[in-house]
Amino acid sequence: MKKEYGKNKVKLNNGVEMPMLGFGSVLESDVPNFRAVYESAWDAGYRLFDTAADYGNQTALGQWLINSGRKRESYFLTGKVAQYEQGYEETLAAFQKTIKELQTDYLDLYLIHWPKEKPFFETWRAMEKLYDDGLVRAVGVSNFEANHLDRLLTKAKIVPAVDQIETHPYFSNHVTHAYLEELNIQHQAWSPLGHGGAELNDVKISESSKKYGKTPAQVILRWHYQRGVAAIPKSTNTVRQRENISIFDWQLSPQDEKIIDSLQKGERVMGAPDENYKADLW
Ligand code: A2P
Repeated sequence: MKKEYGKNKVKLNNGVEMPMLGFGSVLESDVPNFRAVYESAWDAGYRLFDTAADYGNQTALGQWLINSGRKRESYFLTGKVAQYEQGYEETLAAFQKTIKELQTDYLDLYLIHWPKEKPFFETWRAMEKLYDDGLVRAVGVSNFEANHLDRLLTKAKIVPAVDQIETHPYFSNHVTHAYLEELNIQHQAWSPLGHGGAELNDVKISESSKKYGKTPAQVILRWHYQRGVAAIPKSTNTVRQRENISIFDWQLSPQDEKIIDSLQKGERVMGAPDENYKADLW
């Protein structure tokens, strides 16, 4: 049974509202005009900004947000504790570093970036503490598959609100998706456009694109939305930023949605979470 979604909003399992479409992290090193990229994303309508300790762009993002003078409540900030920051005390300290860099006193959503076998529960216990202390409005995970969620839920007091995980038409992550729906954890897609790769030129997606008079990226993002998957596409281009968030006033038919479902071929753009889960690579 599909949930009812409002325009660009979803209510998480703790009642906090999150935009369904947010802006993925653009790295300072990738663009000479970092602030202008974020400023045009804001103008396009993005209000969720995703970042992570590991991306190295928190300071620049914080400076842009502070300089813009916008009210803190007018945007939703997602941060992530990195692998090398995991552990109870370590996560609490990492959080402080993150909010200092972002020049805020709270986060809307804080995620464990990747599951790590050890420490595992200690990190989650710190997330719960941050939530209980009112420093984060919601806590969640990223790159957690069913086995990691099962393990977490043996001890968690708080069920994660969000799982941010690789998802795009060639990697629909349908097994994890079904499980997240069952657990009432909001599925959020990273690389929702498959890193701007082959899916944007897929024949079936092109057919839908022509049929609806929308771009391939819009077809893909609308597919995520109709599946109940939140997404954080990123683009450094003003036109594409606007294109990607203009998906709320039309819909794919159930048949066309199924055609995109059928493109699934288990093709990831990055490594599987389990590849690094046990290895202490960070
Ligand atoms: P650009 O910044 O030049 O727009 P993902 O979010 O899935 O990782 O994809 C990001 C990549 O997709 C970026 O390289 C971005 O390039 C590209 N991209 C984002 N939006 C679009 C779009 N609407 N059409 C084509 N490529 C896009």
